[in-house]
Amino acid sequence: MTILVTGGAGFIGSNFIINWVSKYKEKIINLDNLNYASNKNNLSKLNKKNYKFIKGSINNKKLVRTILRTYKINKIINFAAETHVDRSIVDGSKFINTNINGTFNLLEESKNYYLSLKKANKLKFKFLHVSTDEVFGSLSKNSKPSIEDSVMKPNNPYSATKASSDHLVRAFYKTYGVPTIISNCSNNYGPYQFPEKLIPLVINNALMEKNLPIYGNGKQIRDWLYVEDHCKALVIILKNGKAGDKFNIGGNNEITNINLVKNICNILDNQFPRKKGKYKDLIKFVKDRPGHDTRYSLSTLKIMKQLKWKPKENIVTGLNKTVKWYLNNPNWLKNSNSKDLQKWMKIQYK
Ligand code: TYD
Repeated sequence: MTILVTGGAGFIGSNFIINWVSKYKEKIINLDNLNYASNKNNLSKLNKKNYKFIKGSINNKKLVRTILRTYKINKIINFAAETHVDRSIVDGSKFINTNINGTFNLLEESKNYYLSLKKANKLKFKFLHVSTDEVFGSLSKNSKPSIEDSVMKPNNPYSATKASSDHLVRAFYKTYGVPTIISNCSNNYGPYQFPEKLIPLVINNALMEKNLPIYGNGKQIRDWLYVEDHCKALVIILKNGKAGDKFNIGGNNEITNINLVKNICNILDNQFPRKKGKYKDLIKFVKDRPGHDTRYSLSTLKIMKQLKWKPKENIVTGLNKTVKWYLNNPNWLKNSNSKDLQKWMKIQYK
């Protein structure tokens, strides 16, 4: 078995590959365009025998075609995506290009390749598309969690492009029989997450004694999934999920943004106390995100029942591990504080 991982130098992709290579012998080909949020060094310590990196984009038809045939790929897991909601609000064009056109390209090439395979190899082939709970749109406080078949109502350019790609992935199964599976996860956190997203941004800013920006009143709710739990679910889906199926992967850890940030502050107070004062003194309420979704929540009953998966970490254990990882990896954080991030911070938090 050879797996093509797209976007494997990004946050979730890196965690998936590290987890895979340490446990399984099957080879991984990582196709990543190394955009601002990816980092090839995340994977620099990996055993070269069952891991190969190729720089390139999922939009590159010829490259994707060559990889599928040269390495006789029989599993694809598509992480490659632009993912930051706030950036999609400023300019959605890259999101359309990667998330919609890129996924379409990958599907087209996968279809042609799949149809050329002999029956035995067809049976081994799977295309797993990694998506998000944001496609279901905003829930009110008391409404039931989204299930796999809930109606998609994306509210921002990012989630609209992910919903489009989910529809395309489903259509390629229905129309051409490409054995696709879709997973929709809740907010991930953990090692290697680029510090533009809430949790690493708060840790990064706190360590630099900068303000911790909370949008609006901070009462929006997200469900948080520790990235390692997510990756374990993806491995199970890749191995045991059936073609045409769909699974929610959630952390069962719903919390308001303000309480989440206060938790991070408390953990930092314990693990790396400030010279003076508490980290929560750095919290600053700032202008709200336009179209800010009130709540995301996923029902995970299906994956728990059918594939016997459940998350191991809760928000306290997961946040403690995450804060520890960032404190132990100051160079990783320093490298992430690139010109691009500085430029973005100026645009977003002026
Ligand atoms: P984020 O990490 O961007 O993920 P998403 O928007 O995909 O859920 O944001 C998580 C929540 O935190 C979201 O409700 C927006 C909020 N937020 C802030 O309050 N301040 C910030 O600086 C950022 C980046 C996010």
